[in-house]
Amino acid sequence: MDIDTYFTDHWVDIEEDRIERYERMFQWRDSQLEQLAPASIEPGHRILDFGCGPGFLALALTDMVGDAGRVYGADINARFVSDATERAAGRDNISFHHLTDHVLPFETASLDRVLAKNVLEYVPDVTATLSEMHRVLAPGGRIHVLDSDWGFVMVEPWGKTTVDRFFEAASVAFKEPHIGRRLVQLLKTAEFEAVTAKIAASLDTTGGSLSVLRNMRRYIGVFNTMSPQEADELIQAAERAVDDGTYLFALPQFVVTANKPS
Ligand SMILES: C[S@@+](CC[C@H](N)C(=O)[O-])C[C@H]1O[C@@H](n2cnc3c(N)ncnc32)[C@H](O)[C@@H]1O
Repeated sequence: MDIDTYFTDHWVDIEEDRIERYERMFQWRDSQLEQLAPASIEPGHRILDFGCGPGFLALALTDMVGDAGRVYGADINARFVSDATERAAGRDNISFHHLTDHVLPFETASLDRVLAKNVLEYVPDVTATLSEMHRVLAPGGRIHVLDSDWGFVMVEPWGKTTVDRFFEAASVAFKEPHIGRRLVQLLKTAEFEAVTAKIAASLDTTGGSLSVLRNMRRYIGVFNTMSPQEADELIQAAERAVDDGTYLFALPQFVVTANKPS
């Protein structure tokens, strides 16, 4: 395992227990509709869900675009692509595609929307990826990006200094752990226009987000970028806080939308 390429390697090869965890974490929930609203998805649209994972969002999109539209899921993990293809069996307006680099297997100007949800933080060359997204969008088409910024996490009772150290240790899993704050400028530089951005944040007090912390603990353990004992104690402290009602977790999502000029 190479620490310099782990940010992408850990998606190319995913252990079975992580596949199961991600299938639970990436389920489609109707509450996500609000975050999709700026994408203005309409019946008939041809949409790419870039970094589609197990395919739950892509499947939900098929209902929005209807029979006249089409959804393409694309991901760097072959297992996600084959599982998503099985999940979509019987639907004519969706297909999934395995990526091996930044090149998108779609005609120039052939899509109306490109969605990228929690994936640009992992790509090796975000400029090359955004350039491909720009290429495949039709003039007037829209890109819609949702991404975290791991410098804005709150976990109580850890306190800010400890949160920063924990996520710094986990940052081996990301190419750009602070992608959120860079998105507006990145889209402008990629020659998109009418860039709009907002931050969506919710507060977890009941422990649903422990799966995020346990996932980060797993990343930390690959290279022991924090002592295993300290990392375990932090997870245990978070679990106790859930039980005694003192737990607080927030991870703001950057929601950034822009158009390819007409
Ligand atoms: C955090 S998951 C998000 C999955 C899905 N978009 C969602 O929000 O439910 C990140 C996804 O991006 C994919 N991914 C990582 N690096 C990628 C790359 N360079 N190109 C395409 N997909 C990539 C991973 O395989 C994984 O499915």
